[in-house]
Amino acid sequence: MPIVVVVGGQWGDEGKGRIVDLLARKAKVVARYSAGNNAGHTIVNERGEFKLNLVPAGIFYPEKTCVIGNGVAVDPGVLLGEIEGLQAKGIDTSKLVLSDRAQLVMPWHIALDKLDEASRGATAIGTTGKGIGPCFVDKVARRGIRVADLLRPEDLIPRMKNSLDYANRVITGVYGGEPIDFDSCYQAYHDYGLRLSPYIADVQGVVFDAHRRGEYVLLEGAQGSLLDLDHGTYPYVTSSVPSSSSGGAAIGVGIGPTDIQRVVGVFKSYCTRVGNGPFPTELFDDVAATLRDHGKEFGRGEYGTTTGRPRRIGWLDAVAARYSVRFNGLSALALTRLDVLDNMPTIKICTGYELDGKIISSFPSRESTLERIKPIYEELPGWMTPTTEVRTFDDLPPQARAFIKRVEELLECPVDLISVGPSREQAVIVNPIF
Ligand code: GDP
Ligand code: IMO
Ligand code: MG
Repeated sequence: MPIVVVVGGQWGDEGKGRIVDLLARKAKVVARYSAGNNAGHTIVNERGEFKLNLVPAGIFYPEKTCVIGNGVAVDPGVLLGEIEGLQAKGIDTSKLVLSDRAQLVMPWHIALDKLDEASRGATAIGTTGKGIGPCFVDKVARRGIRVADLLRPEDLIPRMKNSLDYANRVITGVYGGEPIDFDSCYQAYHDYGLRLSPYIADVQGVVFDAHRRGEYVLLEGAQGSLLDLDHGTYPYVTSSVPSSSSGGAAIGVGIGPTDIQRVVGVFKSYCTRVGNGPFPTELFDDVAATLRDHGKEFGRGEYGTTTGRPRRIGWLDAVAARYSVRFNGLSALALTRLDVLDNMPTIKICTGYELDGKIISSFPSRESTLERIKPIYEELPGWMTPTTEVRTFDDLPPQARAFIKRVEELLECPVDLISVGPSREQAVIVNPIF
């Protein structure tokens, strides 16, 4: 049975949580494979509205196993808070499994994230401040502390001392900051280990065995491909491999790339970005304000799930999106927030870039080039009709169908799923993904 990856195709917040919540119905295992609590996934279903940072969006189905993979950077205090918050709302978390190989976000990672951002001044990345970048730096520098270490003080104490000693030298020597105290950190992490121990396991077996038994497995991505460390708008990216390239998904849960059958890219019907960095189709006019504040009265405008920051808004960028389709090896698209365009008299799609008087159709690697290019737009008529109650492709207004067909052509990938609202049932399934 297939292992399906759900990956963000743009700069994050495309609606991955919402799509995973829908697709999880058929899966046996739902696993997060990357990033940390810089992610914020919103799910609206019959249990209510939820914002998840670390727990996979399959958690609302009590019979599903939900895995936090080795590729995830785990802040244990945040995870425990999330588990307790879910339990308080009657959600069963007993089938949650946390990889013993996952890296831990430590208090000094959060301090370093903030100090590093402050020191960058005008060129700050605009991180979420959750310590994710420094955590991955320590992972690569082989100074990281893993979930398994929480369970053995004889491992945890020397590893924490080594990592904190280095961090304190950077905090005080490079940034002139206050050193962090070992004893209070150790007590907190020792306690986290005791409370998380029922969830900790070797997750490779969980994912692989379900696959071998012929059960569906869903791998939930975080962030967006254009924030990818390798393929994104470097240096304005995150510090992990959020995207996809199915390799990123495979490595983050401990399977091989040939185990993955399908990669579904989630794209908004327009674009958003939080944080700094190039955004070729960014809008600064009334259209941006209208799209940002759609649903604001219900707390559903374009404001960051994790940080509350207003999201930057732009038209759909087909050049960037096609680039993302290609390096992700996408087999299908899930197009979200179509309903947000319901009141737009005309809709634009960027089909090319103009650079120094020439038209280019590839996505430039340099952020300085991306800052200079001018988007070339194609304008399509809007449909000016509500789509939130539509459940079949043929019932969509003709202009909406034409928009979707054009997206498929430009992105060179079929749209298998269309989302017309935040709730689980507000979807048009064109081709079943499982
Ligand atoms: P994620 O990080 O990719 O999971 O996305 P976020 O949850 O951060 O942001 C997506 C927002 O769009 C959330 O508020 C969702 O509830 C909402 N959403 C998802 N799909 C749709 C849709 O089709 N229409 C509308 N109006 N809202 C949607
Ligand atoms: P989900 O999973 C949108 C952005 C930050 C910043 C950059 C680096 O909800 O789509 P970091 O804290 O990761 O070092 O910040 O990445 N970013 C996201 N933007 N959605 C996310 O996650 C994001 N996770 C990180 O805003 O620009
Ligand atoms: Mg989000």
